[in-house]
Amino acid sequence: MYSKTILAAAAIAGVQAQSSINSTSGYLNYTTVTGYFLQDLASTNVSTFDYTATNFGLINRTYPATAGLKANLTQWQQFEAQVNALNADAPLNTAYKVLFLGRHGEGYHNAAQTFYGTPDWNCYTSLLNGNATASWFDADLTPNGIEQALIAHDFWAHEIATQKIPYPQSYYTSPLTRCLKTANLTFSGLDLPQYYPFVPSVRELLREGISLHTCDHRRSRTYIHDLFPTWNIESSLTENDELWNGVTAETSDAQDARSKIVLDSIFSEDDHTWISITSHSGEIASILRVLGHQSFSLSTGAVIPVLVKVTFLPSGPPPSNPPYTTSTHCAAPPVTSIASLAQGCVCSGTAVGGITTPIFNISSDYPTSAGYQATDLGPVVTSAPAISSYSY
Ligand SMILES: *[C@@H]1O[C@H](CO)[C@@H](O)[C@H](O)[C@H]1NC(C)=O
Ligand SMILES: *[C@@H]1O[C@H](CO)[C@@H](O)[C@H](O)[C@H]1NC(C)=O
Ligand SMILES: *[C@@H]1O[C@H](CO)[C@@H](O)[C@H](O)[C@H]1NC(C)=O
Ligand SMILES: *[C@@H]1O[C@H](CO)[C@@H](O)[C@H](O)[C@H]1NC(C)=O
Ligand SMILES: *[C@@H]1O[C@H](CO)[C@@H](O)[C@H](O)[C@H]1NC(C)=O
Ligand SMILES: *[C@@H]1O[C@H](CO)[C@@H](O)[C@H](O)[C@H]1NC(C)=O
Ligand SMILES: *[C@@H]1O[C@H](CO)[C@@H](O)[C@H](O)[C@H]1NC(C)=O
Ligand SMILES: *[C@@H]1O[C@H](CO)[C@@H](O)[C@H](O)[C@H]1NC(C)=O
Repeated sequence: MYSKTILAAAAIAGVQAQSSINSTSGYLNYTTVTGYFLQDLASTNVSTFDYTATNFGLINRTYPATAGLKANLTQWQQFEAQVNALNADAPLNTAYKVLFLGRHGEGYHNAAQTFYGTPDWNCYTSLLNGNATASWFDADLTPNGIEQALIAHDFWAHEIATQKIPYPQSYYTSPLTRCLKTANLTFSGLDLPQYYPFVPSVRELLREGISLHTCDHRRSRTYIHDLFPTWNIESSLTENDELWNGVTAETSDAQDARSKIVLDSIFSEDDHTWISITSHSGEIASILRVLGHQSFSLSTGAVIPVLVKVTFLPSGPPPSNPPYTTSTHCAAPPVTSIASLAQGCVCSGTAVGGITTPIFNISSDYPTSAGYQATDLGPVVTSAPAISSYSY
């Protein structure tokens, strides 16, 4: 009863906070509110963190909002009351939201990177569509990846039943197949309220960092629609992939700039507080940078919540539009790779550093390549990201 009152009051406050803002003319400033989740703490060991063993990382503690409360609330119910109180007490230009950031389950490209080794993968094999037995163009989930998405499903079911965790009120996903399928497997069949149905919004800019790797080349809008006909594909998502071109790659700065664009869009258009986002290792890392969260890499299929404070300011730094970069690779499996070189590719028979010309005819070799438009990408600079910067 008590928590319902808090909830209703805060829901109203949250709506007011945002409807008073015209986000197209201002600047959205993000901070991660720490002290609630293990994943915020520098002392948490990322390599051993298991979201299913730690209540999604929610720290056992008391909150000002629930101090002295007689009701026997679960930790997540208490946290919900605390978030609602933060929103109720916030100035009108400020809102608090909880993002559930989920990484897709293992895809064939993840398995291939392990199988071939990172130098071979980054410098050559990732540029192919697949091998004789596996395809990793817009990679699908492996059986292991499906299992990981079902673990997330089971954990959500457990949290809903035992913790009464707040339901996600909105769902967003990357347009790449591995995320579409992970979101479907995770949230289908859960006991969700009719007023917050699982109908994801498919967002172009939640995709993985764009590189030469074919696993990050998306299929067409028609394919996505045919796969999940009831989902909301944003109107600006083009029929064919116009961002991936097989020649240039997004830098971290360019990726962070577009991550901010998609976060700004979600935070200014969606007045919900509890939001699920299904995306990728590299893209979640970028989102965390934009949110001011400590670096925290998710294993395939893992999910972490983040408490975000957003302040709607009248103005701020102008949007940046960092250029993409050319990315070197080899025309055959590389001899080796060294991280200290531009991209670390040491090709057989060619100069150290690799080549920048495509190794095959993109138009004829790619299944859905009509979107190939190098001119969309702005100026090209020649420094390339370090090999270690590629992660999925
Ligand atoms: C928001 O601001 C933009 C730019 O100043 C303006 O064009 C638009 O009409 C405003 N929208 C609303 C709903 O006030
Ligand atoms: C994190 O855990 C791994 C695996 O147990 C261990 O090898 C590593 O030393 C730990 N790192 C830190 C900083 O404690
Ligand atoms: C929180 O407390 C519960 C019950 O006291 C315990 O089972 C759980 O492991 C604790 N969680 C964390 C993250 O410490
Ligand atoms: C509070 O809830 C927990 C978990 O549902 C239950 O184990 C415990 O017995 C309850 N305590 C009281 C005093 O009701
Ligand atoms: C193709 O790559 C997969 C990894 O995705 C690997 O398991 C398989 O053995 C490879 N097939 C061949 C013929 O090398
Ligand atoms: C999830 O996928 C299954 C199998 O393709 C499909 O039957 C179901 O409708 C999907 N669920 C949603 C909510 O799209
Ligand atoms: C955004 O918030 C942070 C932390 O509160 C602050 O340091 C920074 O100056 C703010 N940025 C702008 C543009 O106001
Ligand atoms: C690529 O393939 C297309 C279709 O076969 C062909 O028209 C075009 O000339 C080829 N381009 C190059 C650079 O080989």
